[in-house]
Amino acid sequence: MNTSLLEALNFQNHSRPPVWLMRQAGRYMPSYQALRKKYSFLQICHEPELIHQVTLLPIKEFNFDAAILFSDILMIPEALGFKVRFEDHSGPLIDNHLKAPHEINHFSTEHLREGLNFLPPAIRELKKTLSIPLLGFAGAPFTLASYIIEGKTSRELKTTKRWAYEDSNGFERILALLEEAVIQSLKLQIDSGCDAVQLFDSWAHVLTQEHFTKWCLKPLTRIVQALNKPLIYFCRGSSYRATMIAPTGASVSVDWTHPIDSVRKLLPTTPLQGNLDPEALYLPKEKLIAEVQKILHSMHHDPGYIFNLGHGILPETPYENVQALVSTVHNYSSKA
Ligand code: CP3
Repeated sequence: MNTSLLEALNFQNHSRPPVWLMRQAGRYMPSYQALRKKYSFLQICHEPELIHQVTLLPIKEFNFDAAILFSDILMIPEALGFKVRFEDHSGPLIDNHLKAPHEINHFSTEHLREGLNFLPPAIRELKKTLSIPLLGFAGAPFTLASYIIEGKTSRELKTTKRWAYEDSNGFERILALLEEAVIQSLKLQIDSGCDAVQLFDSWAHVLTQEHFTKWCLKPLTRIVQALNKPLIYFCRGSSYRATMIAPTGASVSVDWTHPIDSVRKLLPTTPLQGNLDPEALYLPKEKLIAEVQKILHSMHHDPGYIFNLGHGILPETPYENVQALVSTVHNYSSKA
């Protein structure tokens, strides 16, 4: 059993850093694309046998040190009763998105576990197969709120922000329901066998510091406290907000905008993950390897470091470059 990811999350890793990549199972893999010719994205998300198969694709092909459950952050809104669709070029769409804050009263977590009933059998099967840790995940309450309010991916989150400013009580009720749903979903994943979890707050960077504290960090603190496993928090802007995030008890997934060793200087005891720019995977192989090594050197002998990207892997990423990235980390000597 290779448990280096869990050791790093406990600040106890004394060998080379573990490596996994956000969105490691996806369209840059021909094997994933072949499965997508047969099944829709939602079919894969809803079928335990397919979840199992797709979660394992990048493990078999690249030998990553952790697996992440194949699913989507929109499985929670769906289980709450939102009608989620995925269109090939526009991303997720929710037709019955909230038109006013009080409409959240039509939704509850009562049937959430039934709505996520495809996860436990997939996780239990994965735990039988894997000899590396399995990560569960969820979208963070604020990022989920942005989808159930806007009904789609939105860059400016105009309606979400307007409600947060103008009807903070109504907005708070939306977030409270999502926080409860996130806790239930993560507990379900942990109880089924996940070894650690990641929370994706992909849109938190649009918030002011005051709103980030209120709408992201307060729920995060309660979510960390509700769980008995390590939690990694991802958001864009985590480089400059890392010192705000760490007191919640979460480990920090660091974006690529600041050198990760500069974040380490500010946070000497927080497990950190990151932070290669996903665009670096388009470089010629030798230049990519040099970028990977620069990060490895800067975090040399760090017991709480996990190699990852600063955000998810991009769909056009060259396959051989992912192989080169993983073997560069795997061949990096902890004694050097
Ligand atoms: O990391 C993994 O391999 C696990 C799988 C995973 C997916 N989505 C599968 C997926 C994870 C961790 C996610 C998280 C997710 N989903 C986030 C947060 C992470 C981030 O990148 O900020 C967000 C915002 C979503 C919502 C979502 N799902 C969007 C915006 C899209 C469309 C954009 C896109 O990349 O196509 C999806 C679809 C999606 N989720 C795909 C995959 C593999 C592509 C679906 C396909 O096969 O067509």
